[in-house]
Amino acid sequence: LSVAVLAGGLSHERDVSLRSGRRVAEALRAAGVDVRLHDVDADLLGFLRTTRPDVVWPLLHGAGGEDGSLRDVLELAGVPYVGTGPRASRAAWDKPIAKERLQQAGLTTPEWLTLPQELFRDLGAAAVLDAVVERFGLPVVVKPTRGGSALGVTRVQRREDLARAMVDCFAYGGSALIEQAVDGIEVAVSVIDSPTGPTALPPVEIVVDGTYDYDARYNAGRVEYFAPARLDDHVARQVATDAVAAHRALDLRHLSRTDMIVRPDGAPTVLEVNVAPGMTETSLFPQAVVAAGHDVPALYRSIAEQALT
Ligand code: DAL
Ligand code: MG
Repeated sequence: LSVAVLAGGLSHERDVSLRSGRRVAEALRAAGVDVRLHDVDADLLGFLRTTRPDVVWPLLHGAGGEDGSLRDVLELAGVPYVGTGPRASRAAWDKPIAKERLQQAGLTTPEWLTLPQELFRDLGAAAVLDAVVERFGLPVVVKPTRGGSALGVTRVQRREDLARAMVDCFAYGGSALIEQAVDGIEVAVSVIDSPTGPTALPPVEIVVDGTYDYDARYNAGRVEYFAPARLDDHVARQVATDAVAAHRALDLRHLSRTDMIVRPDGAPTVLEVNVAPGMTETSLFPQAVVAAGHDVPALYRSIAEQALT
């Protein structure tokens, strides 16, 4: 089996992607796969034509990687690839669209509002921010509607910090998602497809000193992970059911990761889904694979093989 692992790209998550790519490439090699790790550039089609891999594993995170455009190119090239198709990727990547689909599937997601940057010009910042506070109270979470790795995300406690959070958010795109902040236990539930259908891996619990920001995610030390999460059995079953439902509702393929908060009453609420979950040393998907008792190289090889069927 030969697999081309595509990483890098030009999104804000380029470095994360290179780390994910290296880890997946190492694991696949350990499983006897012939691996080429490729930092994606304009010559992607030339690379595919000369190397002719059996399967491509796109590990680009962020814009370009998770928004469907790379998968459009792979469809065009006619090469089998790991993961979700272009249309479903576009929907999952766009947080408001994904949240609507999740709600339609009966899942809970925090209340939200989408604010295009023009609104601030048209109505004035103070009026918009006052309306946000009136609608949700505080705290709220401000995030780019399209983004990953918590870049541009701020949890805002005080009215006077809201404008700064919006500025940071708009640095990543012209549209902001404002969400009602939800307290509880943060868990991530990875899902893999299997012959019997999508299957949840054990939930991974995130206990963070401060906020689970970019630094906490990728530099060891500020986060303690519990894999499996310390949840009551019925709650663990519910988060697994919800992650599988999210995977189905958004038409995700081969692998995904759904991020949730388990509220104090035990009810989960879904923050978002990821079509290209991080695969770095500190990422959640690989921890879930280990917690499930799978051999990482063997499992990654089986994921790559699914792309062939
Ligand atoms: N966006 C990063 C890679 C993640 O969700 O793991
Ligand atoms: Mg994400």
